[in-house]
Amino acid sequence: MQTHRWLRPAGLLSLLALGLSGCEFAGPQSIFDTAGPIAEAQRDLFVWSYQLSWIVVIGVFGVMGYVIWRFRQRKGSDAIPKQFHGNTALEIWLTIIPVIIVIAVAVPTVRTIFATETRVVPDEDAVIVNVTGYQWWWRFEYPELGIVTANELVIPTDRQVVVNLDSADVLHSFWVPRLAGKRDMIPNQNNQLHFTADEPGEYYGQCAELCLGAHAYMKFRVIATDDAEFDAWATSFQEAADRTVQADPQIQQGEALFATKGCATCHTIDGYRDDVRVGTPDFPNLTNFGLRNTIAAAVVDNTQANLEQWLRDPQSIKPGNRMPAVWDTNDPNADEEIAAVAAYLRSLGVEPATQTQASIGANHGDR
Ligand code: CUA
Repeated sequence: MQTHRWLRPAGLLSLLALGLSGCEFAGPQSIFDTAGPIAEAQRDLFVWSYQLSWIVVIGVFGVMGYVIWRFRQRKGSDAIPKQFHGNTALEIWLTIIPVIIVIAVAVPTVRTIFATETRVVPDEDAVIVNVTGYQWWWRFEYPELGIVTANELVIPTDRQVVVNLDSADVLHSFWVPRLAGKRDMIPNQNNQLHFTADEPGEYYGQCAELCLGAHAYMKFRVIATDDAEFDAWATSFQEAADRTVQADPQIQQGEALFATKGCATCHTIDGYRDDVRVGTPDFPNLTNFGLRNTIAAAVVDNTQANLEQWLRDPQSIKPGNRMPAVWDTNDPNADEEIAAVAAYLRSLGVEPATQTQASIGANHGDR
């Protein structure tokens, strides 16, 4: 069947409209709403190249349209328009103009490449983080601070952050659109990226390389705080091993279940009972879990209800993930035990009195 001729431009227009409506200029993952110098330099280069492209498009199509109209064949005339082959002045201009365009793109491009270059010598007060991608979550290790955590990268503002990127399995890609362009995470290849956040806030991160299964749910958050809040956060991790379990009976029950239900086989909690071997590095470290804003690699907020749902049926929150459902659907104790484990996890790193309050960075707006 032949498509009506008028349908074709209509189809193109609707595609264009669809494309434009999908553009978010100020969303939490918008590269246009930059929050640091690296992302800003990259955006500026993009916008400049884009604008220049429009000048070229308008110029080329303008001249073409003019020529088609001006030298169109007229009724009753078979005359060929005047030919200008071999016009030296014209050919010189037709060479000079593209060279100017190439220079106009190349100079800022090279400048931006050097300004955003990786393999930098880190600033003296830089924060170094070894990031490892897993199907489908993020391990964040601060080697200088002795901290290992997952899915939430806490950083101080106005200080350089250098991330060393690695993968434990397939290819992933580290991307925090408002802070810096994406970079691949390749097993055994130490890629690097550095960025700085200008303002305190919560910045959305996303794996940008199709890594099968729950790739679309492989998110994370960068939480930028001032220096004092960052130091308090770091200290809280360093002290985690010495902290005692809160006296609340539900939390105590959850602590016991963490071992007996097998959670401790995979997940590390610094300071968890000495008689239980806790976790391996290949699963999210849950130390100070109560300080996190989100769970399941930033898929949902860290609330008691969400965490219970996550423990009861992980696939209902993050399809494809590898967390097993620990409780049988017909286990009569499931509800009580799940609530206890959730309460225990949410108590980690949190003072009893403030436990119901929002965790770190949550007051900085949810962008
Ligand atoms: Cu990891 Cu996509």
